[in-house]
Formats: sequence, C-alpha cells, structure tokens
Amino acid sequence: MKKLPIVMDFDTGTDDAIAIICALMHRDCLDIKAITAVAGNVPLDATAANTLNIVDFLGHTDIPVARGAAAPLTRELKCAISHGKTGLGDVVVPTSTRAFCEKDAAEVIYDAAVECAGELVYLATGPQTNIALAIQRHPDIVNLIKKVYIMGGCLVGGNTTPATEFNAYVDPEALQVLFRSGLDVTMIGLDVTLRTAVPLWVKEAVSRVETPEAQLATKVIDFCLRRNKEWGYDEANLHDVVAFCSIVNPSVLTLKKYYVDVETEGTITRGMTVADFRDVCPDKEKNIWCAEDIDLGRFWSWFVDLFKNYERR
Ligand code: BDR
Ligand code: CA
Repeated sequence: MKKLPIVMDFDTGTDDAIAIICALMHRDCLDIKAITAVAGNVPLDATAANTLNIVDFLGHTDIPVARGAAAPLTRELKCAISHGKTGLGDVVVPTSTRAFCEKDAAEVIYDAAVECAGELVYLATGPQTNIALAIQRHPDIVNLIKKVYIMGGCLVGGNTTPATEFNAYVDPEALQVLFRSGLDVTMIGLDVTLRTAVPLWVKEAVSRVETPEAQLATKVIDFCLRRNKEWGYDEANLHDVVAFCSIVNPSVLTLKKYYVDVETEGTITRGMTVADFRDVCPDKEKNIWCAEDIDLGRFWSWFVDLFKNYERR
C-alpha cells in the first residue's frame, strides 16, 4: 500500500505530544516528510524543543524537524497556561542534540508540497501561522496540497473567550488566510474535541502497555488529570489526537461542509469561526469541512489498540 505523504505542525503542548506519539506509531501507512513547530501553547523555543525531543526519544531521528513562526502573523503571542511552563507540564523528555532543519517551517512545508506534487496531506494542531506564511510566500502551494486537517476553531462556543477556541484566538489572521486560500480544509473544532475526556479504562489500558510510547503518553495524561483536578474539573481532553485520528481513521468523525470565515476585528469575538449554517450567504462557496460529531466508541478503541498493537522496529 502506498504511504500517505504528510507534514505535521504542532505547538507541542500536552495533547500535541500525544498526537505526535500516535503519528509516530503510524509510519507503516504514513510517509512523514517533516514535522514542524509553531509558537502557541508555549513559546517557539519550547514547542520546537518538545517536538524534536519526543521524535528523537522515540527513535525517529530520520524525520526532519523544523522550527516555524515564533509569533502570530500580526499580533503578539499569547500562550496558554494549562500546559505548564515547558508545554509538557512536569513530564521530562531527554534532550535531543540533533539540529533542526536549516529552512523554516513554511519553506519545509512548501518543499514537501512541491516534492509530492499534489498528494501531500498537512495537519496542524496549533495556531495556523506556518501554513499562512507558506501561502503568503508561495501562493502556488494551494494547488500542491491535497488536504489540510486542523484542530482549531469551533462551530459553537470557545475555551479562550466564550466565542473562540485557543488556536484560532492566538492567530486569527493566519486562520483566515488558510480558510480563504481555496485549500481543501477540514476543521476539527473544539465543540467536538471537548467530548474526548479520557475515560479511566482508556488511561489504565494504555498505562499497562510497556512501551516508551505508552509510558510517555500515560505520563502526559496523568499530568493533565492532576492539573485539571487542581483547577476543579475532572477530565483531560485529547483535542489534537482527534485531528490526527481523522486522517488515519476518518470514520470516527461526521463532517459537513459550510462556508466558514474567521473574525479578525471583533472585540469580543476575536478569532471566532463563523459558519453559515442556514445558507444565508448563498453567493459564498462552502469552503470548510467541519467536524460535527465523533463516534467515541470507535475513537477510544482506535487509541487503545494503537498502543497495544504497535510493534517497534
Ligand atoms: C487547542 O489549544 C491547545 O491548548 C491544545 O493543544 C489544542 O490544540 C484546544 O483549544
Ligand atoms: Ca495544540
């Protein structure tokens, strides 16, 4: 079977870290051209280091890792507090001594798109700054990427403001560039990813698997649960893992295409992803596939089985 060529972009981040671990266990079906990092949950130095450290700790030193944007397109960076100072809470991953790619993320994404001549899939689970820069520098990229999947935005609600999801809030201009680009984009939004509070049986099943992948994921989930308990709620959500899962196991999500744009000027709606549910803009082409529902049974089975069945080379 031909492997799916892919570039993935993360603001690593706890749930990003678990998405990376899941992706690295899929190399039998994914041709990972590069992994790129962007500022978001924590500053770029930390997201890039976390990304490279995880990739190398798990033995994938052949995958190029690139640093990307240190700040949003036009705004100051606003980080999250929920991932701790380093982005991985109290979880420590050995430091890699490998160098990052010489080119920055936007160039690495473009080069991979050119190399794959229309077949490349792109996943981003942080602010969309890197792909927006790639589009601005190389407008022809929109004809070279087959599909884009993002964790970001939401059809209803938010976690950073009442109207806005974190990744969309951090760099709304970048998300708008992506949504208006003509690329085939699937938005796995917060209203769906919030349903993935890790059940106890899942956490226990993964913790019993004695691989570095499962043990690292368990430590990250444990941190999220402890931190959230301190903050008065009892769950840890794997937002970014859902976005990755939708690539390798699309049947977990129900999608619907809408015309969606991003609010960049609102005062209480900065970064809001506004979907035309009722076709009130018939002249606007539907541009974004949006996740509307998730089959949680399938999602958790996929997640647990992945750790159980993964055989390291
Ligand atoms: C998103 O924000 C980040 O904190 C998570 O990593 C996820 O990508 C959820 O709103
Ligand atoms: Ca993220």
